[in-house]
Order: sequence, then structure tokens, then C-alpha cells
Amino acid sequence: MNNEIKIRKVKAEDAEQWSKLQNLVWRYAYKDLLPESVFVEREKPERIAKIIAGFAKHQLAEDRICYVAEVNTRLIGYVSGIVKSEYEHFGIKNYADLQAIYIHPNYQHCGLGKKFFNLFVDELKKRNLKRFVVGVLKDNLQARRAYEKWGGKLDVYTQPFIKDGVELTEVFYTYDIEKIKNKEDL
Ligand SMILES: CC(C)(COP(=O)(O)OP(=O)(O)OC[C@H]1O[C@@H](n2cnc3c(N)ncnc32)[C@H](O)[C@@H]1OP(=O)(O)O)[C@@H](O)C(=O)NCCC(=O)NCCS
Repeated sequence: MNNEIKIRKVKAEDAEQWSKLQNLVWRYAYKDLLPESVFVEREKPERIAKIIAGFAKHQLAEDRICYVAEVNTRLIGYVSGIVKSEYEHFGIKNYADLQAIYIHPNYQHCGLGKKFFNLFVDELKKRNLKRFVVGVLKDNLQARRAYEKWGGKLDVYTQPFIKDGVELTEVFYTYDIEKIKNKEDL
């Protein structure tokens, strides 16, 4: 058995594993921030079926950048972003958006997040794009530390993130692609 981590572009067949991985990482990352009801709702078979049905249209779209990491055909992480942010505040200024890096808890802190980040930046460069944003929960300190380490500048803009009556705050890091440090320095 080969336990090597392989990174590749997303495929339509990844839908089910993707959705399960996303739910697992949500539970792990947000367990102290969100109520149990939020996770239960996300894990309902009908919601998962809907995500799977719309997966290819969404994740394989022209304007999307999406890679997965797998070990022996099991998905253990992904990066997904879009060339124009869907946040009005950033979209009107032509920011791309790194919407998510989600890594299975057993594979965090091994440098995979940084690899995904670099891949995303390379894809934006190929498209001649100049800047991007990433939104993250204010209390998600692990992710914020990584985004800061990778050169993000905390923006003054914030917005509420409300789930099942719990109001959290989303903060944003912006990146000027030309100014991103050499990969070796990250
Ligand atoms: C946030 C996240 C994407 C970071 O990815 P990651 O793969 O864990 O990140 P890296 O391994 O590249 O770097 C993270 C840390 O591991 C350290 N690290 C990297 N390689 C390492 C190694 N071989 N040995 C020990 N530590 C290492 C890095 O220095 C960094 O340290 P820091 O926490 O002190 O800054 C990941 O933890 C994750 O999926 N979290 C849950 C989901 C989430 O919150 N996503 C972001 C919301 S959009």
C-alpha cells in the first residue's frame, strides 16, 4: 500500500467523499464555535444528496480553482476558490477568493495547507490575476495563524456569520500576489 499524498484536480466522482470530508472537518474545526444542530443539519442525507447533485456544476466550473489531495484514493483535503469573489465588498474590487482549504485532522500540520495555498496562487498567476481574499471565522485561530504566516493582511472589513441563532464574525485576509513571499520562505 502506498501512503503517499497525491494532489490532483478535482473530478466529478469526488463528490461524495468531498461532502463527507467537509462535514468531518467542520465538526473538528468548529466544535467549540457552533452548536451541534449545525453539524447534524449538514450531515442529513438529503442535504448531502443535494450537494452531490450540484457538485460538478459548482466545483468544475470554468471560474473555479479546485484541487484535492488523496491517499490511496481516499480524499484527505481540498482547496477551492473562485476567480471573482462572491462577497460584494471584494468582488467589486476584482478580488479572487480562496474560499476553503479543508484538511483531514490527521493530515493537518504537515505542510499540505501551504501546498494548496501555493497551488491556488500559481493558478491565479496563470490567469494574470493580481489579488485575492480569504474569509475566516474570527475565532478560528488555527486557520488565521496559517493565513497570516502565508502573508495575509487583515482587512478592516468584517461581516456577521450566523448559524442557528449563533452569531460569529468573519474576518478577511487579503493578498497582493506580486508581494507574496517566495514559496521557500513560507
Ligand atoms: C488551517 C489549515 C487549512 C492549515 O493547513 P495545514 O496543512 O494544517 O497547514 P500547514 O501544515 O501548511 O501549516 C500549519 C502549521 O503546521 C506547521 N507545519 C508545517 N509543516 C510541518 C511539519 N512537517 N512538522 C510540524 N509542523 C509543521 C506550520 O509551520 C504551521 O505552524 P503554525 O500553526 O504555528 O502556523 C488546516 O489546519 C485545516 O484544514 N483546518 C481546518 C479547516 C479550516 O479551518 N480551514 C480554513 C477555513 S477556510
